[in-house]
Amino acid sequence: MKDTQAKFSKITVSLHWLVAILFIGLMAIGLYMTEFKDYALFPIHKSFGFILLLIALLRVIWRYMNGWPKPAGKYTSVEHLLAKVMHWTLIIGMLLMPISGMIMTLSEGRGLYVFGLELVASFPDPENARRMLVQNEFLAGVGESIHGIGANVMIFAIGLHLVGALKHHIIDKDGTLRRMLGQSI
Ligand code: HEM
Ligand code: HEM
Repeated sequence: MKDTQAKFSKITVSLHWLVAILFIGLMAIGLYMTEFKDYALFPIHKSFGFILLLIALLRVIWRYMNGWPKPAGKYTSVEHLLAKVMHWTLIIGMLLMPISGMIMTLSEGRGLYVFGLELVASFPDPENARRMLVQNEFLAGVGESIHGIGANVMIFAIGLHLVGALKHHIIDKDGTLRRMLGQSI
């Protein structure tokens, strides 16, 4: 059931690709909805973002229980360091993006709704129910900055991560990518 150097467990592989697909999808929706002010997409973005946080937490617990897998190929010490920095950036990003999104939304008094299910109630203005009463302007700003800057950092990190995975597969011809696809190396 645990990861070995030769083969990753089904749980590791499934969690990696589930988070990867959801995360990239959420980045695309986030950028699209803010650029084109498509407010209908906001609740979908927030709901999937919350679900992603739960899966990302499972992934971190699983990685902690499992330990870090040994590299599939022969890495130089620089590559090893780069991979470590990259994996930590991705892990912190996959937690910080949904957390900052929630901080922003909750501080703006918008509540937290997951596919319509109320987890935290919103704070509508009694004089105009369509407007929300901001609960904490400072935290709302902090959340928004982290979410915006984090998005750019993550685009860069995922791009490098993808290039790294392809380099291992095409140039080094080692089992790094095949192992994350569930194959034995
Ligand atoms: C991994 C999960 C998430 C990812 C990858 C993600 C990604 C993004 C991206 C790329 C943007 C556009 C940023 C910009 O152009 O400034 C965005 C905007 C936004 N996201 Fe997320 N998001 C996630 C989770 C969440 C969650 C859980 C919430 C709230 C509960 C949320 C609320 C928002 C809001 C309200 C905006 C609009 C921000 C604005 O108007 O400036 N996001 N998100
Ligand atoms: C763009 C498509 C992606 C590809 C082709 C890909 C490929 C891979 C491969 C081959 C590994 C194994 C590296 C090793 O054994 O050292 C890996 C590990 C990892 N990937 Fe990705 N990945 C992608 C997207 C993502 C995304 C979007 C995230 C998170 C936001 C992510 C997070 C991670 C993390 C944290 C690891 C470290 C190992 C672990 O904790 O299981 N990946 N990825």
